[in-house]
Amino acid sequence: MVDNVPDGTFSQKLQVPEALTFDDVLLRPKESRVEPDDADVSTRVSKHVELNIPVLSAAMDTVTESDTAIGMAREGGLGVLHRNMDIEEMTAEIERVKRADELVIDRENVVTATPDQTVAEVDEMMNHEGVSGAPVVDGDDTVLGIISGTDIRPFLEVGESDLVREAMTDEVITAELGISPREALELMYEYKIERVPIVDADDTLVGLITMQGLLQRRENQAAAHDTEGRLICGAAVGPFETDRATAADEAGADVLFIDCAHAHNLNVIEAAREIKAAVDADVVVGNVGTREAAEEVVDFADGIKVGIGPGSICTTRVVTGAGMPQISAVAEVADVAAPENVPVIADGGIRYSGDAIKAIAAGADAVMLGSYFAGTEEAPGRVITMNGKKYKQYRGMGSVGAMKSGGGDRYLKEEEEGEEFVPEGVEAATPYKGTLASELHQLVGGMRSGMGYVGAATIPEFKERSEFVRVSAAGQTEGHPHDVMITDEAPNYSPDS
Ligand code: XMP
Repeated sequence: MVDNVPDGTFSQKLQVPEALTFDDVLLRPKESRVEPDDADVSTRVSKHVELNIPVLSAAMDTVTESDTAIGMAREGGLGVLHRNMDIEEMTAEIERVKRADELVIDRENVVTATPDQTVAEVDEMMNHEGVSGAPVVDGDDTVLGIISGTDIRPFLEVGESDLVREAMTDEVITAELGISPREALELMYEYKIERVPIVDADDTLVGLITMQGLLQRRENQAAAHDTEGRLICGAAVGPFETDRATAADEAGADVLFIDCAHAHNLNVIEAAREIKAAVDADVVVGNVGTREAAEEVVDFADGIKVGIGPGSICTTRVVTGAGMPQISAVAEVADVAAPENVPVIADGGIRYSGDAIKAIAAGADAVMLGSYFAGTEEAPGRVITMNGKKYKQYRGMGSVGAMKSGGGDRYLKEEEEGEEFVPEGVEAATPYKGTLASELHQLVGGMRSGMGYVGAATIPEFKERSEFVRVSAAGQTEGHPHDVMITDEAPNYSPDS
């Protein structure tokens, strides 16, 4: 470095601070009594929304629609629905997530029979609706009985043209709203029944609890639920899309993510403030990558999302010349957000579980991943085979294809009729990986092990206790498998990541 560079010169600009990313650092191992399996990875994604695992799936049209969001919430994380769909489609997707593991199915979604239907009609209706039983109600929605497949099949004691009122079980066990999952299960065991209609004081049907639904919830003990016991769901909204934001809020989204590649744009911040004032859901603002940007939003944001160009499909840095290496970006933002108790999300660039836990050490409360999940079964899009290997499509939201189907406002570009887009992302294919649950198992398992190496039992403790060491190029080579030919792919390591 040249000494005595005069102030205010261009040369002085080159006396730059260093910014680091994942491969530049490692966690310094420390004394520990923490077994990885005992590490508590619960966290907050925003001021009022808690997660059981610190992981989000990216708001991208090749990553998160309702199937991914349901899978993420069932495992304790959060899926953020992309916004390359119209508002009606988005609200339907949110409702699908919210309904997925509901303890009580709402009246409007309960399939019911009437006493005057024939047994054959009700059998066909249940087949068509994919249910194996239905409460029988009169015109006022009063519960008269319950009819199930076993009452009518194989038509031994009842004929196809008999009426439901003759075939149904009329000693029906009902419960009122507020029943706990345990109480519902006990009722089902005691009376050997598979569904309990939920009624009000006048015996009017208001919902239904099924054994299948209860077992599904039991399987996902670690699921992330809202205060009503429904799966949580995130949704991306453009900074200027107040209509989408209020619709998503009303449909039940728990967290709205202002989806912008450069949220330090002051127009974006003003618009985000307006959205925050118009909705009940938490509002996470992003993306930012510097302390100054964090200072602009920390007074109103319920969470701050960090990432300017680290993503696997991003070309922002090469196209615009702007960006911030991700570990430094997370640390700068966390310096501002943590004292104000505002959670930070590290978004993009995470290839391995080790990267994810390094992001937490740098100050993030949770991490968001795109490419890691794009190859899963739950991600939108079909499996394609190339040279005998299976892949799924994965594309940047700033790629030409994604901008054509959604628009360029994430990148603050006006859509001019017939004008060529200036993309900031590429379209790619990623290896098909199987289920989201198994990918998450590997990701979170690696993060827990990282906590074990540092001797921290919880995420807040890990953020406090972890320290970094700087890695040289030689250290980086040493850290990957070397001087061997890999014969079997590990489920959590691919040399091409
Ligand atoms: P990963 O590395 O997990 O990154 O695949 C996902 C994150 O990348 C961001 N993203 C983009 N960034 N151009 C960009 O510069 C794009 O086309 C693009 N698409 C997505 C986004 O923050 C996502 O969560």
